Amino acid sequence: MTTAAKTPPSVIVIFGAAGDLTGRKLVPALYHLASQELLANEFAMIGIDRADMDSQAYRDYLSASAEDHIGKHFSDELWQSKIPRAYYMQGDFLDDKTYTDLKKKLLKIDKEQNTPGNYLFYLATPPRFFGEIAQRLKSSGLAEEENGLWRRLIVEKPFGNDLQSAQELNRNLHQSFQEHQIYRIDHYLGKETVQNIMTYRFGNGTVEPIWNHHYIDHVQITVAESLGVENRASYYDHAGAMRDMVPNHLLALLSIIAMEPPNSFNADAIRDEQTKVLKCIQPFSPEMVLTHAVRGQYDEGQNEQGDRMPAYRDEPDIADGSNTETYVALKLMIDTWRWAGVPFYLRTGKRLPKRCTEVVIQYRHAPNMMFRDALVKRNNVAPNRLVIRIQPNEGISLQFNAKVPGTLPRLSTVNMEFNYSDYFGDKPSTGYETLIYDCMCGDATLFKRADNIEAGWELVQPILDVWSALPARTFPNYAAGSWGPQKADDLLAKAGHQWSTHP
Ligand code: BG6
Repeated sequence: MTTAAKTPPSVIVIFGAAGDLTGRKLVPALYHLASQELLANEFAMIGIDRADMDSQAYRDYLSASAEDHIGKHFSDELWQSKIPRAYYMQGDFLDDKTYTDLKKKLLKIDKEQNTPGNYLFYLATPPRFFGEIAQRLKSSGLAEEENGLWRRLIVEKPFGNDLQSAQELNRNLHQSFQEHQIYRIDHYLGKETVQNIMTYRFGNGTVEPIWNHHYIDHVQITVAESLGVENRASYYDHAGAMRDMVPNHLLALLSIIAMEPPNSFNADAIRDEQTKVLKCIQPFSPEMVLTHAVRGQYDEGQNEQGDRMPAYRDEPDIADGSNTETYVALKLMIDTWRWAGVPFYLRTGKRLPKRCTEVVIQYRHAPNMMFRDALVKRNNVAPNRLVIRIQPNEGISLQFNAKVPGTLPRLSTVNMEFNYSDYFGDKPSTGYETLIYDCMCGDATLFKRADNIEAGWELVQPILDVWSALPARTFPNYAAGSWGPQKADDLLAKAGHQWSTHP
């Protein structure tokens, strides 16, 4: 078995070091990389935040949260051997002094840890700081790549709040860093099962020849969450489900499913194809928004265990009478030779019955004639369905028809199953391991390019415009714990389709 090389010697600087993302995802991801021997021996981390503490207090703070978030894979011995590489710096992100202090600290750490001056700046901060931090890194000389050393910037979502702000943010970042230095994270691209879609499509001779409108009837992409808005009301009530999920995660899934085969595994070859296919989606006219886009907001209801769930408008810190959508369903048509006439249905929502992200490829019906008298339930031979389960129960299943044993010629739908865990075990992962590793190694394949981000916003902007001009009058329109508003079912029913049955 080939093993991956270690990352190049480097320092990761995390802005927002005391925040939720750092504790929940970034530190566990670095830990997992270390436990798999993938981090260079010459490696250090600097956390920057406003809280007043020294490096020892920060290490204690991280230790307290690490065990919690790393869970059963936590080894105290490994942790104790790595934690002296974590440093803390108190600083205001908008104060120039923070950056002169940071520069000094980096030089000192380079000496202590034998790191050569490769720096990865991770912006785990609210988005209003993205451009400001980038610009101050530049003015302090920290963005400059010299003598073969690299300087990279990871930017978290939300990447803009609409098309205009996304373009502005790209312009701002480009004033300080070059595009090849900027790594925009969409954590869906860090999921193994999402990456496996490419392997499944392009690494198997049986798949690609029938991956087109001749054989595929329609595609469904579902990102369902059982959680509600949790403690993110101040962000979510302004963003809503569309901004939060569609231009990024759902379109990332769609572009991998729908793109043309790239001519190599090179980052730009893949990202060119992803952007191309997004640009081929039929743009939404105002009329289409009314017929091809559905929004919803959850009312009170109950979860699968029968516990009562509050309405969105009754969640803590949500504005009275808020009209923010917590559910979106879209019908998209892609104007390419491959996909002509094949609807892509996308849906995402909070407080749905379960957490389930999946892609369903529904193939066309086989001609019925031969089996007319042999059907068990339906009046048609059930179409084949390929279900790619992104999470949970990661895997792929193919539904096809089989003969029911017996003397009568009867058909029934059965499943051919592949479960990731059966083959590859249960590897600890937050989804950020690959992304951080790839960034340190300079591989931008799984990161969004500026044009890809803007193509996503270009698609959803007309929908946002119509929705803000015509505030929803029927909210709330689905019960917490249900599969969303009736109109989302109608969206498919109009074309004789139905959302896939739920696992
Ligand atoms: C985030 C959204 O980007 O993705 C959240 O801001 C959402 O609202 C989350 O809950 C879903 O991610 P995952 O990995 O749990 O499917």
